[in-house]
Amino acid sequence: MFPLLIGVAIHDRLRVSFQLSLSLTTMLICRTSPLPRLRKGAIKVKRKMEIAIQKLNQSGRVLVLTGAGISAESGVPTFRGGGGTSVWRGMPFEQLSSKQMVDSNLPLVWEWFDYRRSVVSECQPNAAHQALATFEWNNRFEDFKLVTQNVDGLHAAAGSTGVVELHGSIWRARCLKCEARRDMRTVPAGERPPLCLKCGNVMRPDVVLFGENLPSDAFEDAGLHAKDCDVCIVVGTSALVQPAAFLPEFARAAGAFVIEVNPEETVFSGKCDLSLRGRAGEILPQILRSTHKNKFHVNSAVP
Ligand code: APR
Repeated sequence: MFPLLIGVAIHDRLRVSFQLSLSLTTMLICRTSPLPRLRKGAIKVKRKMEIAIQKLNQSGRVLVLTGAGISAESGVPTFRGGGGTSVWRGMPFEQLSSKQMVDSNLPLVWEWFDYRRSVVSECQPNAAHQALATFEWNNRFEDFKLVTQNVDGLHAAAGSTGVVELHGSIWRARCLKCEARRDMRTVPAGERPPLCLKCGNVMRPDVVLFGENLPSDAFEDAGLHAKDCDVCIVVGTSALVQPAAFLPEFARAAGAFVIEVNPEETVFSGKCDLSLRGRAGEILPQILRSTHKNKFHVNSAVP
């Protein structure tokens, strides 16, 4: 199982848990190698962008992992960043977004998620979400997989399909008993907690909270793409929350070129091949404009 945790202590467990063909020995050799593939500090911004574009133009298989930062320019607050963590009614979000809180105070959890949905419902996908949707729609790569930690639904709103939502969605409720789902857009505001239409039991937000496991099919799908990709782009995540933050490390250990897009340095910056410092809404459209179009297939309609 893959529990949602802050920090890196889970790595050893994950190495064992992955039923993928990359051998443990290979991963350990790659992960402890002292030789970065590029001397990051020495490369100027323009040159970094050229390298990223060149790598993407040479690549068939691309994995993108996004975090809260990609939605920041849409107006969705991030959880961390700028040295702070988000707080609601005086409570740190890690406390609110936890399994313990569902068990002890489900009405409060619903209030917090109602608040989050009210914020997100005012937001539109931004240029970064749109660039990623366009990458997919005009078949720029042989295989393009978008994996997100976000629960806001903005990738789908931008037109991306088949997005792996590692942490679920704030737009769904899940029955505590039979696990049936309901679309929160159809649940009246006064029905809290929502009731299951199948068995009548109470429901909770269909998101992965701290102390809970990620859906194993979603994480395994993401892991398989991480193992096979040529380039992995990591956008707008502090890379502090496991197991999602392990995916780019796994991709790199399997030989992928890993690019980070983030205005701030993160714990992952020293482990990737290239850090593009800047906002996702500026950098991703720039990459989109500069990579070859329709490298693999005939164009379909751009969303
Ligand atoms: N473009 C790109 N990155 C940005 C931008 C932007 N415009 N603005 C902020 N960022 C970066 C910040 O520098 C920070 O590194 O986005 C990152 C946001 O980090 P977090 O708030 O920690 O979000 P994330 O990494 O997605 O959190 C992971 O933690 O609380 C849990 O389940 C929740 O999915 C979430 C997980």
